[in-house]
Amino acid sequence: MIITTNMANAKSTTSTFKPYDRIAELKAFDLTKSGVQGLVDAGIQQVPRIFINQPETIPKASTPLELPVIDLGSTDKASTVEKIREASEKIGFFQVVNHGIPLSVMNGMIQGVRRFYEQDAEIKKRFYTRDASRAVVYNSNFDLYRTPAANWRDTFLSIMAPSPPPPEELPEVCRDIQIEYSNHVLKLGGLLFQLISEGLGLEPNHLGDLDCDKGLAMLAHWYPACPQPDLTMGATKHTDSGFLSVLLQDEIGGLQILHQNQWIDVPPTLGALVINIGDLLQMISNDKLKSVEHKVVANEKGPRVSVACFFSSYTAASTKVYGPIKELVSDVNPPKYRQTTVHDYTQYSYSKGLDGGVPRLLHLKL
Ligand code: OGA
Ligand code: NI
Repeated sequence: MIITTNMANAKSTTSTFKPYDRIAELKAFDLTKSGVQGLVDAGIQQVPRIFINQPETIPKASTPLELPVIDLGSTDKASTVEKIREASEKIGFFQVVNHGIPLSVMNGMIQGVRRFYEQDAEIKKRFYTRDASRAVVYNSNFDLYRTPAANWRDTFLSIMAPSPPPPEELPEVCRDIQIEYSNHVLKLGGLLFQLISEGLGLEPNHLGDLDCDKGLAMLAHWYPACPQPDLTMGATKHTDSGFLSVLLQDEIGGLQILHQNQWIDVPPTLGALVINIGDLLQMISNDKLKSVEHKVVANEKGPRVSVACFFSSYTAASTKVYGPIKELVSDVNPPKYRQTTVHDYTQYSYSKGLDGGVPRLLHLKL
């Protein structure tokens, strides 16, 4: 293997990077089909230079913001709608409890992801691909060849709705729990889109009728313990491109969101799920709801497991066209975005990678 490590101070400026054949090193890493976990298994003590990123310039908040925890079991629906609306406009993120997904299913899902990553490397390799048309796509860094620094994480993606693959195409060690968990998430999504519709002053079924709650992609992330967490990132800062994301995380933590130009920790809360607004919901709400940047810091502790479920018809080449909802625009608040299909916007986001330098949604701005 030709991956080498750089000097520990290589992060200070790009000019300290000696010229090197980055593409060759990315390819060597990719060809192992073993991801970041493969490097850790090989006993690597330093972060290879393909993972080293520029130092963070945005400060971390000294007083953490408490992300609102919204009780979906509350009988005061008007207050629930109002809390979700406020969080979606001001923070772009909130947590939910009493969401109807049993703790045993949440834990089972995390355990299922562990079984996938801890199984025999040769079995895992069969799922390793960069062919985005496959129903299950396991790799490290979907944007490996398009970003300045690779992330310290591996991911496997499964399309769970509207057209899930035959169960036997999902990994044997976790397919049952993937199906069970995603059915719960689809149901939760139905409720969230109703509450968000109402918060926007629309009929409860408005977003559901637009099929926002019909497509679901499940991304099972694995963030191995990192020997030099200050040199790299678990996940580069980005917004999510779909309508809405539902995140399940284990107890390790590391997710941070950008709020008032500061990074804020989102510490795991037992039993809670983290919900955030994606680009497409910001777009169809004509900027009323906010798709906010977030990232995951690398950690000496690990591996960390998280499962991100994106409501978005990921690979389905739907011809349905989305633009700012007409009830939400007016002469004084004209449409801010041109129309797109989910397919086209997803393709665009995918081609840009996690951090294309500018917010991806600008692509659609009028
Ligand atoms: C994502 C994401 C956060 C996490 O998948 O888009 O932001 O904690 N994940 O893994
Ligand atoms: Ni994200």
